[in-house]
Amino acid sequence: MELDLKDRDWLSQKINIGEEVLYLTRKECESVGLSIDEIIKLTEDALVAHGKKEYEMPAKIGIHPLPEVFFHAMPAYVPSKHAAGMKWIECFPKNHERFNLPQTSGLLIMNDEYSGWPLAIMDATWITAMRTPAVTALAAAALHPDAETFGMFGCGVQGTAHVEFMPHLLKNLKRIYIYDVREDAMDKLIEEVQPKIDVEIIKGRNPEEVVKNCEVLCSATLILKTPLKVVKDEWVTKGQTILPCDLNTYWDPLITKRADKYIVDSIEEHELFDKMGYFPDGLPEIYCETGEIIAGLKKGRENQNELIVNSNIGMAVEDVVLGREILNRALNLGLGRKLPL
Ligand SMILES: NC(=O)c1ccc[n+]([C@@H]2O[C@H](COP(=O)([O-])OP(=O)(O)OC[C@H]3O[C@@H](n4cnc5c(N)ncnc54)[C@H](O)[C@@H]3O)[C@@H](O)[C@H]2O)c1
Repeated sequence: MELDLKDRDWLSQKINIGEEVLYLTRKECESVGLSIDEIIKLTEDALVAHGKKEYEMPAKIGIHPLPEVFFHAMPAYVPSKHAAGMKWIECFPKNHERFNLPQTSGLLIMNDEYSGWPLAIMDATWITAMRTPAVTALAAAALHPDAETFGMFGCGVQGTAHVEFMPHLLKNLKRIYIYDVREDAMDKLIEEVQPKIDVEIIKGRNPEEVVKNCEVLCSATLILKTPLKVVKDEWVTKGQTILPCDLNTYWDPLITKRADKYIVDSIEEHELFDKMGYFPDGLPEIYCETGEIIAGLKKGRENQNELIVNSNIGMAVEDVVLGREILNRALNLGLGRKLPL
């Protein structure tokens, strides 16, 4: 097989492949200068590659030291981006109360696609906090482009980024409702994001008010095996678009069951979570994958009355595409520390 070594030649001018690895902190990842629109575009490229099946990405494997926690190994290869690597991500929902630590942490390793040697080790929390709302915003724009109202459940790391990202693609947005069990999380989100966006952010008094006032809804709360069923089936009406980032936890499973289209980012991944017990009421029938909608290979919304649920649990293709761009920029800017192998 003929190897296309142009990209590798560029890399090898910046780093001694096989001898050293670039370590990037969260701050350094943030300071490479990626704008929200650039993050959205890179995430779109990753989803299109996924939709066209131009990738390699086995379903996550993991370990579970405590009930309701996971470490996941998320490897992926996207040839068009020369992006090969693996995210090692952790989700410990009780971290806030136990240790005053965020529930999600992680590292991303990027590798040379031709020799296999590691090129970089970088923080993955910022990448995760950025690519996840980019996926939701792209899905919202594809499935409900004219939405004037958006509702966000969970105002932590993900919720905050989602509220900032959404107006970048939903250009008609007039109001964003937010809801969190913690009042201080809602206040912090508004303080942080309202100065950055022109859309009014409104604190929801309860989940029902948010559901009944919003065309597009998203949740980023907790991932639990037993659904919390916070959002009741009778609050949800035809025509709404629901975009959970927390799998099956927040919504009455009846909603997903009666949805006209149930779309997921990765069928394999959702089937795996089903096997692990995260869909005690059964995995709903899946219409297609998010990437197929974004790549224009499958029809999204076909009429105003369709109830659509699109569950995006997160895919490694998004992480490695963003990770590769961060690596390129860091090498160009001379950011990070080169560590001997
Ligand atoms: N789909 C993906 O790609 C992806 C990526 C990262 C994180 N996640 C998931 O998103 C969720 C949020 O992650 P995060 O990093 O933002 O966590 P976080 O701890 O920063 O925020 C979670 C927020 O949800 C709130 N919350 C908890 N229970 C709630 C309830 N019943 N109603 C309303 N609010 C509630 C908490 O008070 C907190 O403010 C987690 O489940 C995480 O596993 C998904």
